[in-house]
Amino acid sequence: MDKIIIHGGRRLEGEVAVSGSKNAALPILISSLLTSEPCVYQGIPQLVDINTALKLLAGFGVVVDKESWVKGGGDIILRPDRVRNFEASYDLVRTMRASFLVLGPLLARFGYAHVSTPGGCAIGTRPVNLHLKGLAEMGATIEQVHGYVEAKAKKLRGAQIYLDLPSVGATENLMMAASLAEGTTVIENAAKEPEIEDLAAVLNQMGARVEGAGGDLIRVEGVSSLGGLTHRVIPDRIEAASFVIAGALIGGDVLVTGVRPAHLDAFFIKLKEAGIELSIDANGVRVKGNNTIKSVDVTTLPYPGFPTDMQAQMMVLMSVADGVSVITETIFENRFMHAQELDRMGADIRLEGNRAVVRGVKELSGAPVMATDLRASVSLVLAGLVANGTTEVSRVYHLDRGYEHIEKKFSKLGAAIERVKG
Ligand code: EPZ
Repeated sequence: MDKIIIHGGRRLEGEVAVSGSKNAALPILISSLLTSEPCVYQGIPQLVDINTALKLLAGFGVVVDKESWVKGGGDIILRPDRVRNFEASYDLVRTMRASFLVLGPLLARFGYAHVSTPGGCAIGTRPVNLHLKGLAEMGATIEQVHGYVEAKAKKLRGAQIYLDLPSVGATENLMMAASLAEGTTVIENAAKEPEIEDLAAVLNQMGARVEGAGGDLIRVEGVSSLGGLTHRVIPDRIEAASFVIAGALIGGDVLVTGVRPAHLDAFFIKLKEAGIELSIDANGVRVKGNNTIKSVDVTTLPYPGFPTDMQAQMMVLMSVADGVSVITETIFENRFMHAQELDRMGADIRLEGNRAVVRGVKELSGAPVMATDLRASVSLVLAGLVANGTTEVSRVYHLDRGYEHIEKKFSKLGAAIERVKG
Protein backbone atom coordinates (compact mmCIF):
# COMPACT_ATOMS: atom_id res chain seq x y z
CA MET A 1 0.00 0.00 0.00
CA ASP A 2 1.24 3.48 -0.90
CA LYS A 3 2.50 5.88 1.76
CA ILE A 4 2.96 9.62 1.74
CA ILE A 5 6.15 10.91 3.31
CA ILE A 6 6.35 14.54 4.34
CA HIS A 7 9.33 16.46 5.67
CA GLY A 8 7.56 19.23 7.53
CA GLY A 9 8.27 22.90 7.96
CA ARG A 10 8.73 24.05 4.35
CA ARG A 11 6.90 27.31 3.59
CA LEU A 12 4.27 27.04 0.85
CA GLU A 13 4.33 29.65 -1.91
CA GLY A 14 2.50 30.01 -5.20
CA GLU A 15 -0.73 29.07 -6.92
CA VAL A 16 -2.81 25.95 -6.79
CA ALA A 17 -5.86 25.28 -8.96
CA VAL A 18 -8.87 23.51 -7.53
CA SER A 19 -10.19 20.41 -9.31
CA GLY A 20 -13.81 19.59 -10.10
CA SER A 21 -15.97 18.58 -7.17
CA LYS A 22 -16.06 14.88 -6.32
CA ASN A 23 -19.33 15.15 -4.44
CA ALA A 24 -20.98 17.04 -7.31
CA ALA A 25 -19.55 14.72 -9.97
CA LEU A 26 -20.73 11.44 -8.43
CA PRO A 27 -24.50 12.09 -8.45
CA ILE A 28 -24.18 13.91 -11.77
CA LEU A 29 -22.54 10.90 -13.48
CA ILE A 30 -25.25 8.70 -11.97
CA SER A 31 -28.00 11.00 -13.27
CA SER A 32 -27.07 9.83 -16.81
CA LEU A 33 -29.18 6.75 -16.01
CA LEU A 34 -32.25 8.96 -16.43
CA THR A 35 -31.78 9.36 -20.20
CA SER A 36 -30.97 7.31 -23.29
CA GLU A 37 -29.07 10.18 -24.92
CA PRO A 38 -25.31 10.85 -24.68
CA CYS A 39 -24.15 12.95 -21.74
CA VAL A 40 -20.88 14.89 -21.74
CA TYR A 41 -19.36 15.88 -18.42
CA GLN A 42 -16.39 18.20 -18.05
CA GLY A 43 -13.99 18.98 -15.24
CA ILE A 44 -14.31 15.51 -13.70
CA PRO A 45 -11.45 14.94 -11.24
CA GLN A 46 -9.19 11.90 -11.61
CA LEU A 47 -10.13 10.09 -8.43
CA VAL A 48 -10.63 6.51 -7.36
CA ASP A 49 -14.28 7.21 -6.46
CA ILE A 50 -14.98 8.48 -9.97
CA ASN A 51 -13.52 5.29 -11.40
CA THR A 52 -15.77 3.28 -9.07
CA ALA A 53 -18.79 5.23 -10.35
CA LEU A 54 -17.76 4.54 -13.96
CA LYS A 55 -17.38 0.82 -13.18
CA LEU A 56 -20.82 0.82 -11.62
CA LEU A 57 -22.40 2.55 -14.63
CA ALA A 58 -20.59 0.27 -17.09
CA GLY A 59 -22.01 -2.69 -15.15
CA PHE A 60 -25.53 -1.46 -15.95
CA GLY A 61 -24.65 -1.32 -19.66
CA VAL A 62 -23.76 2.38 -19.93
CA VAL A 63 -21.03 2.86 -22.56
CA VAL A 64 -18.24 4.86 -20.93
CA ASP A 65 -15.81 6.96 -22.96
CA LYS A 66 -13.13 8.06 -20.51
CA GLU A 67 -10.23 8.60 -22.90
CA SER A 68 -9.92 12.34 -22.19
CA TRP A 69 -10.37 11.80 -18.43
CA VAL A 70 -7.65 9.13 -18.27
CA LYS A 71 -5.24 11.55 -19.95
CA GLY A 72 -6.11 14.27 -17.44
CA GLY A 73 -8.47 16.21 -19.77
CA GLY A 74 -11.41 15.82 -17.42
CA ASP A 75 -14.11 14.92 -19.98
CA ILE A 76 -16.28 11.85 -19.66
CA ILE A 77 -18.91 10.86 -22.20
CA LEU A 78 -21.61 8.42 -21.11
CA ARG A 79 -23.97 6.67 -23.53
CA PRO A 80 -26.80 5.20 -21.48
CA ASP A 81 -28.98 3.89 -24.36
CA ARG A 82 -28.37 0.21 -23.72
CA VAL A 83 -28.90 -0.18 -19.99
CA ARG A 84 -29.86 -3.82 -19.40
CA ASN A 85 -28.84 -4.64 -15.84
CA PHE A 86 -30.39 -3.08 -12.77
CA GLU A 87 -28.30 -4.51 -9.99
CA ALA A 88 -25.66 -2.67 -7.94
CA SER A 89 -23.56 -5.25 -6.11
CA TYR A 90 -22.44 -5.18 -2.49
CA ASP A 91 -18.80 -5.01 -3.62
CA LEU A 92 -19.31 -1.68 -5.36
CA VAL A 93 -21.77 -0.08 -2.93
CA ARG A 94 -19.60 -1.04 0.04
CA THR A 95 -16.52 0.55 -1.58
CA MET A 96 -18.40 3.73 -2.36
CA ARG A 97 -21.65 4.65 -0.62
CA ALA A 98 -22.65 7.16 -3.31
CA SER A 99 -23.38 4.08 -5.48
CA PHE A 100 -26.68 3.89 -3.59
CA LEU A 101 -27.79 6.96 -5.57
CA VAL A 102 -28.53 4.72 -8.57
CA LEU A 103 -31.68 3.52 -6.82
CA GLY A 104 -33.87 6.53 -7.65
CA PRO A 105 -32.83 6.92 -11.32
CA LEU A 106 -33.08 3.17 -12.12
CA LEU A 107 -36.47 2.92 -10.49
CA ALA A 108 -37.78 6.04 -12.22
CA ARG A 109 -36.62 5.06 -15.71
CA PHE A 110 -36.94 1.26 -15.67
CA GLY A 111 -39.37 0.58 -12.83
CA TYR A 112 -36.96 -1.79 -11.10
CA ALA A 113 -33.71 -1.69 -9.12
CA HIS A 114 -31.82 -4.20 -7.01
CA VAL A 115 -29.22 -2.29 -5.01
CA SER A 116 -27.09 -3.42 -2.09
CA THR A 117 -27.47 -1.39 1.11
CA PRO A 118 -24.17 0.28 1.98
CA GLY A 119 -23.72 -0.92 5.58
CA GLY A 120 -21.76 1.02 8.20
CA CYS A 121 -18.84 3.29 7.51
CA ALA A 122 -15.74 4.52 9.38
CA ILE A 123 -17.37 7.87 10.22
CA GLY A 124 -20.83 6.71 11.31
CA THR A 125 -23.74 4.33 10.78
CA ARG A 126 -25.05 6.34 7.82
CA PRO A 127 -28.47 4.73 7.28
CA VAL A 128 -30.45 5.16 4.05
CA ASN A 129 -33.94 5.17 5.61
CA LEU A 130 -34.79 8.63 4.25
CA HIS A 131 -33.98 7.58 0.67
CA LEU A 132 -36.28 4.55 1.04
CA LYS A 133 -39.08 6.38 2.83
CA GLY A 134 -39.20 9.05 0.12
CA LEU A 135 -39.29 6.51 -2.71
CA ALA A 136 -42.05 4.55 -0.91
CA GLU A 137 -44.04 7.78 -0.66
CA MET A 138 -43.66 8.09 -4.42
CA GLY A 139 -45.37 4.72 -4.80
CA ALA A 140 -42.42 2.31 -4.93
CA THR A 141 -42.69 -1.13 -3.36
CA ILE A 142 -39.53 -1.65 -1.38
CA GLU A 143 -38.29 -4.90 0.12
CA GLN A 144 -35.04 -5.47 1.92
CA VAL A 145 -33.73 -9.02 1.56
CA HIS A 146 -30.21 -10.45 2.02
CA GLY A 147 -28.63 -7.02 2.32
CA TYR A 148 -30.21 -5.71 -0.87
CA VAL A 149 -33.04 -3.30 -1.55
CA GLU A 150 -35.42 -4.50 -4.22
CA ALA A 151 -37.53 -1.60 -5.45
CA LYS A 152 -40.36 -1.74 -7.97
CA ALA A 153 -42.79 0.80 -9.36
CA LYS A 154 -44.73 0.71 -12.63
CA LYS A 155 -44.59 4.50 -12.55
CA LEU A 156 -43.42 6.67 -9.68
CA ARG A 157 -45.86 9.42 -8.78
CA GLY A 158 -45.25 12.84 -7.29
CA ALA A 159 -45.49 13.12 -3.52
CA GLN A 160 -45.02 15.56 -0.68
CA ILE A 161 -41.89 14.38 1.14
CA TYR A 162 -40.54 15.76 4.39
CA LEU A 163 -36.97 14.79 5.26
CA ASP A 164 -36.44 14.36 9.01
CA LEU A 165 -32.97 15.75 8.44
CA PRO A 166 -31.56 17.47 5.37
CA SER A 167 -29.69 14.48 3.94
CA VAL A 168 -27.57 15.30 0.90
CA GLY A 169 -27.83 11.81 -0.58
CA ALA A 170 -31.58 11.43 0.05
CA THR A 171 -32.26 14.83 -1.53
CA GLU A 172 -30.23 13.81 -4.60
CA ASN A 173 -31.81 10.36 -4.93
CA LEU A 174 -35.34 11.76 -4.61
CA MET A 175 -34.72 14.72 -6.91
CA MET A 176 -33.54 12.36 -9.65
CA ALA A 177 -36.44 9.95 -9.13
CA ALA A 178 -38.98 12.79 -9.08
CA SER A 179 -37.72 14.14 -12.42
CA LEU A 180 -39.33 11.19 -14.24
CA ALA A 181 -42.31 10.67 -11.90
CA GLU A 182 -45.91 11.43 -12.80
CA GLY A 183 -46.94 14.73 -11.22
CA THR A 184 -45.26 17.08 -8.79
CA THR A 185 -42.96 16.13 -5.93
CA VAL A 186 -42.19 18.52 -3.12
CA ILE A 187 -39.13 17.79 -0.97
CA GLU A 188 -39.29 19.70 2.32
CA ASN A 189 -36.29 20.20 4.59
CA ALA A 190 -34.10 19.40 1.60
CA ALA A 191 -30.30 19.61 1.77
CA LYS A 192 -29.02 22.96 0.45
CA GLU A 193 -25.42 22.08 -0.45
CA PRO A 194 -23.96 23.57 -3.67
CA GLU A 195 -23.69 20.00 -5.01
CA ILE A 196 -27.51 19.77 -4.88
CA GLU A 197 -27.77 22.95 -6.95
CA ASP A 198 -25.30 21.56 -9.48
CA LEU A 199 -27.32 18.36 -9.82
CA ALA A 200 -30.51 20.40 -10.25
CA ALA A 201 -28.80 22.44 -13.00
CA VAL A 202 -27.89 19.18 -14.74
CA LEU A 203 -31.41 17.77 -14.45
CA ASN A 204 -32.91 21.00 -15.78
CA GLN A 205 -30.49 20.98 -18.73
CA MET A 206 -31.71 17.44 -19.44
CA GLY A 207 -35.27 18.79 -19.60
CA ALA A 208 -36.41 18.27 -16.01
CA ARG A 209 -38.40 20.87 -14.09
CA VAL A 210 -36.65 21.32 -10.76
CA GLU A 211 -37.19 24.52 -8.79
CA GLY A 212 -35.86 25.71 -5.47
CA ALA A 213 -32.62 23.69 -5.27
CA GLY A 214 -30.30 25.41 -2.81
CA GLY A 215 -33.27 26.19 -0.55
CA ASP A 216 -35.25 24.13 1.99
CA LEU A 217 -38.05 23.31 -0.41
CA ILE A 218 -37.46 21.71 -3.78
CA ARG A 219 -40.34 21.28 -6.21
CA VAL A 220 -39.97 18.82 -9.09
CA GLU A 221 -42.57 18.58 -11.79
CA GLY A 222 -42.13 15.17 -13.42
CA VAL A 223 -41.63 14.90 -17.19
CA SER A 224 -41.97 11.83 -19.42
CA SER A 225 -38.38 11.70 -20.66
CA LEU A 226 -35.05 13.44 -20.33
CA GLY A 227 -32.33 14.19 -22.88
CA GLY A 228 -28.54 14.43 -23.04
CA LEU A 229 -26.40 17.42 -22.12
CA THR A 230 -22.94 18.92 -21.74
CA HIS A 231 -22.06 20.15 -18.27
CA ARG A 232 -18.97 21.25 -16.35
CA VAL A 233 -19.06 20.36 -12.65
CA ILE A 234 -18.52 22.99 -9.98
CA PRO A 235 -15.10 23.32 -8.31
CA ASP A 236 -14.44 21.23 -5.21
CA ARG A 237 -15.11 23.51 -2.24
CA ILE A 238 -13.62 21.03 0.25
CA GLU A 239 -10.39 20.61 -1.71
CA ALA A 240 -10.17 24.41 -1.98
CA ALA A 241 -10.71 24.88 1.74
CA SER A 242 -8.12 22.19 2.54
CA PHE A 243 -5.49 24.15 0.56
CA VAL A 244 -6.54 27.35 2.31
CA ILE A 245 -5.90 25.65 5.66
CA ALA A 246 -2.46 24.55 4.39
CA GLY A 247 -1.71 28.18 3.50
CA ALA A 248 -2.87 29.36 6.91
CA LEU A 249 -0.72 26.73 8.65
CA ILE A 250 2.51 27.19 6.75
CA GLY A 251 1.97 29.55 3.88
CA GLY A 252 4.25 32.28 2.84
CA ASP A 253 1.68 33.30 0.29
CA VAL A 254 -0.70 30.80 -1.32
CA LEU A 255 -3.30 31.59 -4.00
CA VAL A 256 -6.03 29.00 -4.41
CA THR A 257 -7.64 29.53 -7.82
CA GLY A 258 -10.93 28.37 -9.31
CA VAL A 259 -12.80 28.54 -6.00
CA ARG A 260 -16.40 29.75 -5.73
CA PRO A 261 -16.03 31.78 -2.52
CA ALA A 262 -19.80 31.88 -1.89
CA HIS A 263 -19.67 28.10 -1.31
CA LEU A 264 -17.32 28.57 1.64
CA ASP A 265 -18.84 31.49 3.55
CA ALA A 266 -19.04 29.82 6.96
CA PHE A 267 -15.50 28.47 6.61
CA PHE A 268 -14.04 31.87 5.68
CA ILE A 269 -15.84 33.56 8.56
CA LYS A 270 -14.34 31.08 11.01
CA LEU A 271 -10.85 31.51 9.53
CA LYS A 272 -11.10 35.27 9.83
CA GLU A 273 -12.24 34.86 13.45
CA ALA A 274 -9.11 32.76 13.93
CA GLY A 275 -7.06 35.73 12.74
CA ILE A 276 -6.11 34.29 9.36
CA GLU A 277 -5.41 36.89 6.69
CA LEU A 278 -7.47 36.12 3.60
CA SER A 279 -8.09 38.10 0.48
CA ILE A 280 -10.88 36.86 -1.71
CA ASP A 281 -11.44 38.14 -5.24
CA ALA A 282 -12.15 36.98 -8.78
CA ASN A 283 -8.67 35.39 -9.03
CA GLY A 284 -9.22 33.16 -6.05
CA VAL A 285 -8.43 33.08 -2.36
CA ARG A 286 -5.07 34.33 -1.19
CA VAL A 287 -3.94 33.22 2.24
CA LYS A 288 -0.84 34.17 4.14
CA GLY A 289 0.72 32.22 6.96
CA ASN A 290 2.75 33.80 9.74
CA ASN A 291 -0.41 34.74 11.57
CA THR A 292 -0.93 34.13 15.21
CA ILE A 293 -3.73 31.61 15.02
CA LYS A 294 -6.49 32.29 17.54
CA SER A 295 -8.60 29.48 18.94
CA VAL A 296 -12.21 29.48 17.74
CA ASP A 297 -15.07 27.11 18.54
CA VAL A 298 -16.55 25.31 15.56
CA THR A 299 -19.77 23.32 15.17
CA THR A 300 -20.40 21.32 12.01
CA LEU A 301 -23.85 21.79 10.47
CA PRO A 302 -25.64 21.14 7.20
CA TYR A 303 -24.93 23.77 4.53
CA PRO A 304 -24.68 26.76 4.81
CA GLY A 305 -23.23 25.84 8.21
CA PHE A 306 -19.60 24.85 8.75
CA PRO A 307 -19.01 21.66 6.68
CA THR A 308 -18.35 18.36 8.45
CA ASP A 309 -15.97 17.62 5.57
CA MET A 310 -13.70 20.44 6.89
CA GLN A 311 -13.83 19.47 10.55
CA ALA A 312 -10.64 17.35 10.58
CA GLN A 313 -8.64 20.01 8.71
CA MET A 314 -9.90 22.74 11.06
CA MET A 315 -8.82 20.57 14.00
CA VAL A 316 -5.23 20.66 12.71
CA LEU A 317 -5.34 24.46 12.57
CA MET A 318 -6.74 24.60 16.11
CA SER A 319 -4.05 22.16 17.28
CA VAL A 320 -1.43 24.86 16.76
CA ALA A 321 -3.63 27.83 17.76
CA ASP A 322 -3.24 30.09 20.72
CA GLY A 323 -5.73 28.89 23.34
CA VAL A 324 -8.42 26.25 23.66
CA SER A 325 -11.14 25.53 21.13
CA VAL A 326 -14.14 23.22 21.19
CA ILE A 327 -15.03 21.45 17.96
CA THR A 328 -18.51 19.91 17.92
CA GLU A 329 -19.44 17.36 15.26
CA THR A 330 -23.20 17.14 14.73
CA ILE A 331 -23.45 15.33 11.38
CA PHE A 332 -21.63 12.02 11.89
CA GLU A 333 -21.29 10.17 15.18
CA ASN A 334 -17.75 8.85 14.73
CA ARG A 335 -15.81 11.48 12.84
CA PHE A 336 -12.95 12.10 15.25
CA MET A 337 -10.63 9.23 14.34
CA HIS A 338 -7.94 11.70 13.26
CA ALA A 339 -7.77 13.11 16.81
CA GLN A 340 -5.78 10.17 18.18
CA GLU A 341 -3.38 10.33 15.25
CA LEU A 342 -2.92 14.08 15.74
CA ASP A 343 -2.24 13.43 19.43
CA ARG A 344 0.56 11.09 18.34
CA MET A 345 2.05 14.10 16.55
CA GLY A 346 2.02 16.13 19.76
CA ALA A 347 -1.45 17.71 19.57
CA ASP A 348 -3.47 18.03 22.77
CA ILE A 349 -7.02 16.90 21.99
CA ARG A 350 -9.51 15.52 24.49
CA LEU A 351 -12.65 13.86 23.17
CA GLU A 352 -15.93 14.22 25.07
CA GLY A 353 -18.72 12.57 23.09
CA ASN A 354 -19.32 14.64 19.99
CA ARG A 355 -16.99 17.39 21.20
CA ALA A 356 -13.25 17.67 20.86
CA VAL A 357 -11.48 20.03 23.21
CA VAL A 358 -8.35 21.17 21.41
CA ARG A 359 -5.65 22.90 23.42
CA GLY A 360 -3.22 24.60 21.06
CA VAL A 361 0.43 23.52 21.25
CA LYS A 362 3.57 25.36 20.08
CA GLU A 363 4.44 22.76 17.47
CA LEU A 364 3.57 19.34 16.14
CA SER A 365 6.21 16.72 15.56
CA GLY A 366 6.35 14.28 12.66
CA ALA A 367 5.36 10.66 13.29
CA PRO A 368 4.10 7.60 11.43
CA VAL A 369 0.30 7.95 11.30
CA MET A 370 -2.58 6.07 9.77
CA ALA A 371 -5.39 7.49 7.65
CA THR A 372 -8.87 6.24 8.57
CA ASP A 373 -11.11 8.08 6.10
CA LEU A 374 -10.84 10.67 3.38
CA ARG A 375 -10.91 13.91 5.37
CA ALA A 376 -8.98 12.40 8.28
CA SER A 377 -6.23 11.51 5.84
CA VAL A 378 -5.91 15.01 4.44
CA SER A 379 -5.79 16.37 7.99
CA LEU A 380 -2.75 14.16 8.63
CA VAL A 381 -1.07 15.48 5.49
CA LEU A 382 -1.73 19.05 6.68
CA ALA A 383 -0.34 18.21 10.11
CA GLY A 384 2.71 16.66 8.46
CA LEU A 385 3.33 19.85 6.43
CA VAL A 386 3.50 22.02 9.52
CA ALA A 387 5.15 19.49 11.86
CA ASN A 388 8.75 19.36 12.81
CA GLY A 389 10.47 16.35 11.22
CA THR A 390 9.13 13.53 9.08
CA THR A 391 5.57 12.24 8.91
CA GLU A 392 4.65 9.02 7.20
CA VAL A 393 0.95 8.71 6.35
CA SER A 394 -0.16 5.15 5.62
CA ARG A 395 -3.44 3.89 4.09
CA VAL A 396 -3.42 6.76 1.61
CA TYR A 397 -5.98 4.98 -0.57
CA HIS A 398 -8.48 7.02 1.46
CA LEU A 399 -6.81 10.19 0.20
CA ASP A 400 -6.90 9.02 -3.41
CA ARG A 401 -10.68 8.78 -3.22
CA GLY A 402 -11.06 12.54 -2.98
CA TYR A 403 -7.90 14.58 -3.61
CA GLU A 404 -6.61 14.78 -7.16
CA HIS A 405 -2.80 14.60 -7.47
CA ILE A 406 -2.44 15.94 -3.95
CA GLU A 407 1.29 15.34 -3.53
CA LYS A 408 2.00 16.97 -6.90
CA LYS A 409 -0.07 20.02 -5.98
CA PHE A 410 1.69 20.40 -2.62
CA SER A 411 5.14 19.78 -4.18
CA LYS A 412 4.46 22.59 -6.65
CA LEU A 413 3.80 24.87 -3.69
CA GLY A 414 7.20 23.93 -2.29
CA ALA A 415 6.35 21.16 0.17
CA ALA A 416 8.75 18.25 0.67
CA ILE A 417 6.20 15.51 0.05
CA GLU A 418 6.46 12.27 -1.87
CA ARG A 419 4.51 9.12 -2.48
CA VAL A 420 6.20 5.84 -1.86
CA LYS A 421 4.61 3.01 -3.78
CA GLY A 422 3.77 0.04 -1.60
C1 EPZ B 1 -22.62 13.53 1.62
O1 EPZ B 1 -22.81 12.25 2.20
C2 EPZ B 1 -21.17 13.60 1.19
N1 EPZ B 1 -20.90 12.54 0.22
C3 EPZ B 1 -20.27 13.47 2.41
O2 EPZ B 1 -18.94 13.65 1.98
C4 EPZ B 1 -20.61 14.58 3.40
O3 EPZ B 1 -19.84 14.41 4.57
C5 EPZ B 1 -22.11 14.53 3.76
O4 EPZ B 1 -22.90 14.57 2.54
C6 EPZ B 1 -22.56 15.64 4.67
O5 EPZ B 1 -22.26 16.87 4.09
C7 EPZ B 1 -21.21 12.72 -1.05
O6 EPZ B 1 -21.75 13.75 -1.45
C8 EPZ B 1 -20.87 11.63 -2.00
P1 EPZ B 1 -26.07 12.79 4.37
P2 EPZ B 1 -24.27 11.68 2.47
O7 EPZ B 1 -27.08 11.86 3.77
O8 EPZ B 1 -25.16 12.08 1.36
C9 EPZ B 1 -27.90 10.78 8.29
C10 EPZ B 1 -16.61 13.22 1.98
O9 EPZ B 1 -15.68 13.21 2.82
N2 EPZ B 1 -28.86 10.08 7.39
O10 EPZ B 1 -26.33 14.26 4.26
O11 EPZ B 1 -24.14 10.24 2.78
C11 EPZ B 1 -26.48 10.27 8.12
O12 EPZ B 1 -26.28 9.10 8.86
C12 EPZ B 1 -17.97 12.65 2.30
O13 EPZ B 1 -16.47 13.64 0.82
C13 EPZ B 1 -29.89 9.35 7.94
O14 EPZ B 1 -30.05 9.26 9.16
O15 EPZ B 1 -24.64 12.48 3.79
C14 EPZ B 1 -25.68 11.44 8.61
O16 EPZ B 1 -25.60 11.40 10.00
C15 EPZ B 1 -18.04 11.85 3.53
N3 EPZ B 1 -30.73 8.70 7.08
C16 EPZ B 1 -26.52 12.65 8.18
O17 EPZ B 1 -27.81 12.14 7.92
C17 EPZ B 1 -30.61 8.77 5.73
O18 EPZ B 1 -31.41 8.17 5.01
C18 EPZ B 1 -26.02 13.37 6.93
O19 EPZ B 1 -25.87 12.43 5.88
C19 EPZ B 1 -29.57 9.54 5.20
C20 EPZ B 1 -28.70 10.20 6.05
